[in-house]
Amino acid sequence: MSQIDYIVKPGGQLAGAFRVPGDKSISHRSIMFGSIADGVTHVTGFLQGEDSLNTLRAFRAMGVTIDGPNEQGEVTIRGVGIDGLKQPEAPIDLGNSGTSIRLMSGLLAGQAFNVELSGDRSLSKRPMKRVTDPLALMGARIDTAEGGKPPLKVNGGSVMKGIDYALPMASAQVKSCLLLAGMYAKGQTCVTEPATTRDHTERMLNAFGYPVKTEANRMCIEGGGRLTACDIDVPADISSAAFFLVGASIAENSDITLQHVGINPTRTGVIDILRLMGANIELLNERVAGGEPVADIRVRSAQLKGINVPETLVPLAIDEFPVLFVAAACAEGQTVVTGAEELRVKESDRIQVMADGLQAIGVDATATPDGMIINGGPVKGGQVHSRDDHRIAMAFTMAALRSEGEILIEDCENVNTSFPDFIGIANRAGIKVSIAG
Ligand code: S3P
Repeated sequence: MSQIDYIVKPGGQLAGAFRVPGDKSISHRSIMFGSIADGVTHVTGFLQGEDSLNTLRAFRAMGVTIDGPNEQGEVTIRGVGIDGLKQPEAPIDLGNSGTSIRLMSGLLAGQAFNVELSGDRSLSKRPMKRVTDPLALMGARIDTAEGGKPPLKVNGGSVMKGIDYALPMASAQVKSCLLLAGMYAKGQTCVTEPATTRDHTERMLNAFGYPVKTEANRMCIEGGGRLTACDIDVPADISSAAFFLVGASIAENSDITLQHVGINPTRTGVIDILRLMGANIELLNERVAGGEPVADIRVRSAQLKGINVPETLVPLAIDEFPVLFVAAACAEGQTVVTGAEELRVKESDRIQVMADGLQAIGVDATATPDGMIINGGPVKGGQVHSRDDHRIAMAFTMAALRSEGEILIEDCENVNTSFPDFIGIANRAGIKVSIAG
């Protein structure tokens, strides 16, 4: 793949009503659950980004007939039933997608066949012991590369048993992995989370008629059940909307409406944090679509102020910190983020990479072991590196709305993993971003 760099001209104002692409977490799960359901599942609004397409290709490789996605994001999945997946002919390459590899390690641990799961340069550096350790307690046999990194060799034919597991970190991927493994285990599997994380797995399994019981921060599933096909309406991804929530807040004279955005309360930390900073965000037409709450979100420019971000909001905004750091850079006063050490093991080390990039464009930002201290002030412009991370690339695109000079962002090809046509949508909204060279 040849390198793509973005060049962003300074300034601009945001206007218009538009819809960002479909939710990545929900798109992944629609393919996984539709594939092992009985019957035909129809999905609309599917994210046509590389991450969710990698999940789709993986299930095709395991014998599932999946039509689409077409231009409208419609996908039809002919489910093979809980025990109908077949051994793929080759190792499965999941590209950049942590959600695919972690959830699939659980789903595949109890199958009769062997399967190897691998990924790109960024995914190959990410920790997998957080899933392979508890899966081993359930009876799974998974070999990893050195240091618990991908590729994962999942050995089939394991007899799985339920466990009662307290998650050491707030991770929806680990929670989901164990709940999916629990469907193939004898008895009950329970997971307790240290803080609330996104609950799309629990909601969607229930929608497919496979009960997951949730009591406070503990989720339980019984092995041996089946899923019944259903229709899934994927809302726009609040994690993609987040770039524009910040963009329209920091750019002068801006007023945008983001349509049909998922506002599941386990994902709306970014709205709460921006409102604490003084943002002008309104939720309109709140409704429920496909078991998930959605709304249109209106955002207008506001003078943001620095805050101490409450730690309880961190897991509810975990993917939005790159762009929240940009908001903090444009705010009046100091913003302090703590309790966010999970950012160090995302698609890149998002604390270090954002601190390096912010400093490179003239912002007073200091990385700490579990967060960042940012003093708002002028943004000068300059050259930054995304380090293979889509959300870093998009966050620095927004920073140019307030910079004095251009921002050159290196290595932006991974934006396609979560946000196809980011450049088109951003330009139509009023951001002067293009591919450099
Ligand atoms: C996701 C969970 C989060 C998030 C990721 C998607 C999911 O990861 O960062 O982008 O779909 O379950 P963790 O569970 O590792 O925090």
